Amino acid sequence: RIAYVNGAYVPHGDAMIHVEDRGYQFADGVYEVCQVREGVIVDLSRHLDRLDRSLKELRIDWPMHRGSLIHVIRQVLRRNRITEGMFYLQVTRGVAPRDHVFPAEGTRPSIVITAKRIAPSVIAAKNAKGLKAITVTDNRWDRVDIKTVGLLPNVLARQEAKEKGAQEAIYIDCEGKVKEGAATNVWMVDKDGVLLTRPAEHGILRGITRTTLMDVASRLGVEIREQEFSRDEMMNAREVFITAATSICLPIVEIDGKPIGNAHPGIVTQKIREAFFEIAE
Ligand code: PDD
Repeated sequence: RIAYVNGAYVPHGDAMIHVEDRGYQFADGVYEVCQVREGVIVDLSRHLDRLDRSLKELRIDWPMHRGSLIHVIRQVLRRNRITEGMFYLQVTRGVAPRDHVFPAEGTRPSIVITAKRIAPSVIAAKNAKGLKAITVTDNRWDRVDIKTVGLLPNVLARQEAKEKGAQEAIYIDCEGKVKEGAATNVWMVDKDGVLLTRPAEHGILRGITRTTLMDVASRLGVEIREQEFSRDEMMNAREVFITAATSICLPIVEIDGKPIGNAHPGIVTQKIREAFFEIAE
């Protein structure tokens, strides 16, 4: 496997970042994850637009021009011979002696790109079975709209899910409303077949898959409402599913040990999942 680190393509095992990288010391950086399917990077331009936004919010410079970055991403995929899988891209504020304030002008951001092959059958198996989730209180900072590498609360939430036999943790806000998963956006289908997801203006990450899935669902004629819903409404939903670039959309069949709907992947979820790949590209 080959990784890209600050200008060089290196064997994955030798890919290193300096100990005083601000990503390492302060989680002072941002990232993107994209899916590769049939050799095509799904939603690449939307992911790069979000990267641009994240960088601007943190006042980190682009590590290179957008066009060059696309070239490097494609090189990493080519050198790893990946047509099915994902890549991970991380940009930090760079290497500087440890100090909370921004480093001196001219400090170059660090960039790392890694890629991984994922057999479509692995995701298909998860989709066929459905996932289990737990609910957790949201204990993150209030700028989760920025895709930063500061993911410790998410790490702890996913670990708690795993220890409880589940695959995702769903954040609930202090009013009992559903926010998002530890690494996914959350959706429900209500008794009228309407698709609900929380508005992305506040308190969640505006998922790229979420945005594209809205286009897909509306083309299918499924009614969508960006509207908050409570944990109770979710527990009584006909279907619940999650979206992220890693798996596009996956059904949730059990939450906190209780079945959702008929405890099997839902029809609307499957219809949208199939349409995503036909329409989105
Ligand atoms: N996570 N919400 C959170 C907190 C996320 O971390 C992610 C993505 C999403 C979905 O966003 P998108 O559709 O753009 O992938 C929502 C990535 C996949 C990760 O951390 O691995």
